[in-house]
Amino acid sequence: MNNNKRRIGVLTGGGDCPGLNAVIRAVTKSAITDHDYTVIGIEDGFLGLLEDRTRILNNDDVSGILLAGGTILGTSNTANPFSVPCKKGNKIVKEDHSDRAVKTLKRHSIDALICIGGDGTHAVAHKMAQLGVKVVGVPKTIDNDVYGTDITFGFNSAVSVATDGVDRLHTTAESHHRVMVLEVMGRYAGWIALESGIAGGADIILLPEIPFNLDAVCNKIKERRKHGKRFSLIVVSEGAHPKGKSLTVKKVIKGSPDPLRLGGIGQKIADDIEKKIRIETRVTVLGHLQRGGTPTPFDRVLATRFGVEAVQLIAKGSYGRMVAYKNDDIISVPIHKVVSKLKVVPKSSSIIKAARAVGTTFGDR
Ligand code: F6P
Repeated sequence: MNNNKRRIGVLTGGGDCPGLNAVIRAVTKSAITDHDYTVIGIEDGFLGLLEDRTRILNNDDVSGILLAGGTILGTSNTANPFSVPCKKGNKIVKEDHSDRAVKTLKRHSIDALICIGGDGTHAVAHKMAQLGVKVVGVPKTIDNDVYGTDITFGFNSAVSVATDGVDRLHTTAESHHRVMVLEVMGRYAGWIALESGIAGGADIILLPEIPFNLDAVCNKIKERRKHGKRFSLIVVSEGAHPKGKSLTVKKVIKGSPDPLRLGGIGQKIADDIEKKIRIETRVTVLGHLQRGGTPTPFDRVLATRFGVEAVQLIAKGSYGRMVAYKNDDIISVPIHKVVSKLKVVPKSSSIIKAARAVGTTFGDR
């Protein structure tokens, strides 16, 4: 038995998404089989580092999890070791407890840490790297908005759920001659609405990147009616907003690195359409159905490739980097180049042009 085995940690941070378990499995299997490392799972993201909650992961622990949604390690989208809410008298103040997180790593002789997460997780990972922790990042999010990678795992699964939603709304919209609005996730980037909207043949797609005008939305519905199409389908990102107006905020989660929780724009649009053109309009909010459940084959493959590459980076001593998908290859980019940036939908991209070419409106003209 080798008692001097290298020990690497792995955690999942931020909101969950399909494919997290596939990454944990790939990290664990390749670290053990190819490198004879010991893998230590950290529970509930950075919270586990603060509270010293870890467990060793063996091949048996990750067997059979490839298809499972969620994360066997648990996650937290509020824990940030550099900003821990602490009670001081009657007040809650934020304190830097990163030394506690570093101590947990030292206590377990964890020599390098794989952080699987979105922009918030990578921002924390970058700060940990600045403290000298050997960090490697793996990008995840259904929103597909992590900068530096063409795609994040989880996105393809979310698009597939959302497209199924559009398809199902299509038949009922047509039968009742209604307008159907589907609100999907996507706070600042409208990739899910865009791709599920195109895949489902939505007539109107509303994105955070293209502020809309209610008149343009109503004109499209009326124009369709004129041509005998008595129903219309609208897919709207939760972060979409009318020109000159702000986001529709459902609640604010104090202490979260990204405290705004959006929701409600779909209902608002439906109310406005009914008021303006008096056509019956119904709303479906897809919510967390987009995040749960089994990953698509594409996401399973991408997650596996990401997990294996993350371990390779550690083996090569290439730290402070995030694995990424570029031109069908797995590469890595420096984490400092991806933090504080978002990959949003470019307004004049070929995908937007293709949607416009088949008659989809974005409510801007
Ligand atoms: O960032 C991923 C995401 O699913 C967003 O699309 C959504 O706005 C948000 O997380 C929801 O977060 P929560 O699960 O905390 O409500």
